[in-house]
Amino acid sequence: MSDVREMAEDIGRLKKEKNAIIMAHYYVADEIQDIADFVGDSFFLAKKATETDADIIVLCGVRFMGESAKVLNPTKKVLIPDMAADCPMAHMATTDRIDEVREKYDDVAVVCYVNSTADLKAASDVCVTSANALKIVSRLPQRHIYFIPDQNLAHYIADQLPEKEFIFNDGFCHVHNSISLDALRKTRALKPDAPVLVHPECKPEVVAEADYVGSTSGIIKYATESSAKEFIVATELGVMHELKKRNPDKVFYPAGPMQICPNMKKLTMEKLLHVLKEEDSEITLPEKLMREAKTPMEEMLRLAK
Ligand code: 13P
Ligand code: SF4
Repeated sequence: MSDVREMAEDIGRLKKEKNAIIMAHYYVADEIQDIADFVGDSFFLAKKATETDADIIVLCGVRFMGESAKVLNPTKKVLIPDMAADCPMAHMATTDRIDEVREKYDDVAVVCYVNSTADLKAASDVCVTSANALKIVSRLPQRHIYFIPDQNLAHYIADQLPEKEFIFNDGFCHVHNSISLDALRKTRALKPDAPVLVHPECKPEVVAEADYVGSTSGIIKYATESSAKEFIVATELGVMHELKKRNPDKVFYPAGPMQICPNMKKLTMEKLLHVLKEEDSEITLPEKLMREAKTPMEEMLRLAK
């Protein structure tokens, strides 16, 4: 414990010396969330990254989050504590398929969930996160929507926008996709009064059971404002830290087993301290790619307003 405290002090000192800012996603380890300047969902982190005057952004999240921060702030140094912390779903689409779809439909928007590589973002028209996808897709003039890479989030949005014709891609988040309806129903049978809070990366049949569907921030806000005292949570368990912090009198149950993202959990205090000291794990992207990926990211920020 004292090690963690010492590391936190060293991190705080280095952060000041270097005019660095630490941003963390709700899925990273509790102790990293505790020392971060900002903790939030993917949308909040992307937006905050455009508002900082720090020289260095240390993004405690998976690689695509660091890339998003870099694309939005090409002149800043963006570090992530572990380059190997990569989201498999970020690679589950191809630019070849995007080209094919563009060729087939003239009235199509390529909508890219931010959980994607910079290459995929660059080939898309607009980015979205789970917090703003519905709003943004509903504002697009095109009738056809090619939504990459997450099929589950795509189905969740498509169901609410019957006027749009979706072309689905077969990507998925292995953490959310593995939350089964069977496990959720067993938990619900034990806690019948607890509202079920579901992230839209879950399978449609799990989403259909939800009392609330939303991003990690949305889930936290809903639980905090609700008068219920117990909740069933279908997302990565890192979110429990903020849920419990804001709601010490409420109880949160995981919907099923294994709601842990192994890549988010690669980030440790040791690695965070190391990267702040050595600055040796920096996100770098070719200039042209950054320019091309920036347009759909900025379009997201504009349409989300
Ligand atoms: P958000 O709620 O931040 O969109 O989280 C989804 C996610 O899987 C991030 O890796
Ligand atoms: Fe990727 Fe899923 Fe992990 Fe998020 S929780 S980083 S989408 S694997």
